[in-house]
Amino acid sequence: MRHLLNITDLTFDEIKLVFELSQRQPSSLGCPLRSSEGTPIGAALIFEKPSNRTRHSMEIAVVELGGHPIYTRGEEVGLDTREPVEDVARIMSGYHGLIAARVFKHGIVERLARASSVPVINMLSDFSHPLQGLADALTMVQEFGSLSGKTVAYVGDYNNVARSLGEICVILGAHYRLACPEGYDASGDELQRISTLGSGSIEQSSRPQEIVAGAHAVHTDTWVSMGQEAEKAERLQIFGSYAVTTDLMSRADSQGIFMHCLPAYRGYEVSADVIDSSASRVIQQGHNRLHASRGVLAFMLGVSQ
Ligand code: CP
Ligand code: NVA
Repeated sequence: MRHLLNITDLTFDEIKLVFELSQRQPSSLGCPLRSSEGTPIGAALIFEKPSNRTRHSMEIAVVELGGHPIYTRGEEVGLDTREPVEDVARIMSGYHGLIAARVFKHGIVERLARASSVPVINMLSDFSHPLQGLADALTMVQEFGSLSGKTVAYVGDYNNVARSLGEICVILGAHYRLACPEGYDASGDELQRISTLGSGSIEQSSRPQEIVAGAHAVHTDTWVSMGQEAEKAERLQIFGSYAVTTDLMSRADSQGIFMHCLPAYRGYEVSADVIDSSASRVIQQGHNRLHASRGVLAFMLGVSQ
């Protein structure tokens, strides 16, 4: 049983196949979410947190693959409050062809996967955001032709998005450079783990100006992730010098692009004149969430050519 809890659940060759499937016409993927009688197979989409891109792109991807998405808010399912995660997984496995969940604790998607008899997909946890990492890398591959040898900078909080981006960059041969404040950075063990994933490299500094120098793509994300709202005032203080501004972007490659998973907070992690500039690829990146989701779902459901 294949699950997608982290980018590292996919090999280099599988990511290449996912990108190939992502860029094909949906009608060529053969409706893997339709039964032999021609009826749509269900897809459970459980959200413990808000979403725009992930919910819409996943619902559309499921429909394009012949299936029927059922969106459920976390409190309705009550993972570990109304009933144990394992009971939810076993019951939903009997209704659906896949289970996807956006959760606070990564351990919840791991437990869903252990108890499920259908593929489980992590739609964002406190640890990782693999669907985002796939769309981010797909966008850069479309832009540059390949990620091999490219320099990808990430400025800000070392969070779920930064981790999945780092994993896919190193697997695909990019040089991943992190600029994060102390205490909100990647540990030495984490840097070591990611460095072994592929032919790329990873390095970290607390100085954004150094990290962005010559970068082909500059990424950032919110300083206050969902679930961290109580830390907002403290975080805004700590991250104040990690904003992606036109001055910081001027250090990047002259053709360097700006990327952000969205939602973005203009005036905080990115200035409006950067995110709304011609160097910004955030809309293409958001649209690629649909293509990457369709591609990875097709792959997990057995479409291989
Ligand atoms: N980037 C992303 O996951 O967006 P949503 O939270 O809107 O799904
Ligand atoms: N790091 C952010 C990503 C939102 C898509 C969060 O977890 O809230």
